[in-house]
Amino acid sequence: MKEIIPTADSPGKPASKEAARLVREIGRRRTFAIISHPDAGKTTLTEKLLLFGGAIHLAGSVKARRAARHATSDWMDMEKERGISITSSVLSFDYQRFRINLLDTPGHQDFSEDTYRTLTAADSAIMLLDNRKGVEEQTRKLFSVCRKRRLPIVTLVNKCDRVGEDPFGILDDVQTHLGIACYPLTWPVRREGRLIGVCDRQSREILLYAQTQDHGQTLPPVTVLSLDDPALDQALEPGVLEPLREEVELLAVAGEEADPEAVSRGEATPVFFGSALTNFGLDVFFRRFLEMAPGPGPVDSNLGPVSPEKDPFSGFIFKVQANMNLRHRDRVAFLKVCSGRFQAGEEATVPRTGRALRLAQPQELLAGERTHADEAVAGDVVGLHDRGNLRVGDTVSSAPGLEYPGVPRFSPEHFAQVRLEDHLRRKHLDRGLRHLAEEGTILLLFSDSLSGPVPIVGAVGRLQFEVLVARLKAEYGVSIRLEPLPFHAARWVIGPEKEIRRITGGYGRKRVVDADGLPMVLFETEWVLSRTVTEEKGLKFHDVQPG
Ligand code: G4P
Repeated sequence: MKEIIPTADSPGKPASKEAARLVREIGRRRTFAIISHPDAGKTTLTEKLLLFGGAIHLAGSVKARRAARHATSDWMDMEKERGISITSSVLSFDYQRFRINLLDTPGHQDFSEDTYRTLTAADSAIMLLDNRKGVEEQTRKLFSVCRKRRLPIVTLVNKCDRVGEDPFGILDDVQTHLGIACYPLTWPVRREGRLIGVCDRQSREILLYAQTQDHGQTLPPVTVLSLDDPALDQALEPGVLEPLREEVELLAVAGEEADPEAVSRGEATPVFFGSALTNFGLDVFFRRFLEMAPGPGPVDSNLGPVSPEKDPFSGFIFKVQANMNLRHRDRVAFLKVCSGRFQAGEEATVPRTGRALRLAQPQELLAGERTHADEAVAGDVVGLHDRGNLRVGDTVSSAPGLEYPGVPRFSPEHFAQVRLEDHLRRKHLDRGLRHLAEEGTILLLFSDSLSGPVPIVGAVGRLQFEVLVARLKAEYGVSIRLEPLPFHAARWVIGPEKEIRRITGGYGRKRVVDADGLPMVLFETEWVLSRTVTEEKGLKFHDVQPG
């Protein structure tokens, strides 16, 4: 491994106490996201992690806090109206010996771009499925991002307290629709289709849970018996035990333990069964997930892999968000620390601009209740005050010359031309569009016309257009109309300009450039897109912005 800057603790010398503490701190970081379709139980599961980690004392408080935020935030009325969370943040808390950084991704399908970005900061993911629905649309989209990043994924089949699909059917669904091998590490013990316990396949232990009367506020009492223990015949009636034994035998024939290498490359997923509502199965799930989930690892850069423990401070911006307080038009840029230690007040550089940056964290982050520690280490996420100097994808580092490859932009599926209502506000419009594009609310494109470049906006979800119109009005005093364009796919394109112009000369395809001046082609239908990609061998099409 290449070292960026020689450090005091070179191999062979005894590591200082400070360096040993850094290694220890980094080693206990677990930074992950939960990917799921809305309603699968992500909020409930998050609450249980917070509850059993000791960060909150009552389940239900995350929901209550969200509701309170909706009630007090006048920043975005749409949040209130629709009851959805438009922004995402990070929850940091201790769970046993681990420090968890849970990247909170909004579940609404229209905010996929933001969610996609957030996944670039994750070191692993929990895929949460509803036991009646299996793989759903949003799960599929998010999964494809995890797959591209080769992120290790651990699956929890939730809501097993209710009668759902057959567990084999769910595994089949995941394997068929996502193309990832499933290795169940627990198996549901069911009475009349409802979860009463789980079988830990590795230890061959059966964990039988007792119902609690406190609506899931505590972990349920558990009785542990071996699958081979004759006492199990007394504990479980034949109608429960026989099918369980058969299923466990069937699994033993069909599949062994998950290959850790395949899991770490995101090619196989360990599967657990449980209920975030009753907490059945969560004890094994949390314990095994945190043991299996990787801590921060080396990150590729232009100078080679950067070691989280050995190299000086570095990180990248994966999200920029306008501050909710309109009176101070500043923003929060979210930084994933990749190496070393972040210390508030220190200086770092942003290679894109060549500017020095004083690392100052906002006192209050989005949850509105939490103040940040002044120190963070590799694996952590910090919010930085930003006055427009930082962009998604920027490297922030104290190592000279170091740059991370950036954060992929995802190709939008909806497009509209921007019409300004009051032409005297042109400059405000340009500034607003530029800011919101930098934040990632929309993709800003331009098409050629006789009167100069015409702004076109692209979004992964249609709701982002409504956010754009509302925010331009509220924050920049600009009224616009959006005229939908008949295109549904876009690709960045690399190849001779003459060729690009040739294929976009007729109907069904349009040439535009993005805000960085890179050429893109808009396509009317998926069919036109796939035909073009197949036929135009001289051009290269990319669904994420080429680096
Ligand atoms: P989300 O963040 O993924 O959108 O899901 P959320 O946790 O809000 O859960 C969606 C609904 O599913 C909630 O019911 C929640 O109580 C329920 N739920 C979550 N986990 C389980 C589970 O393990 N078993 C069962 N049976 N239900 C579960 P709701 O009626 O919409 O809300 P609430 O009134 O219960 O809060």
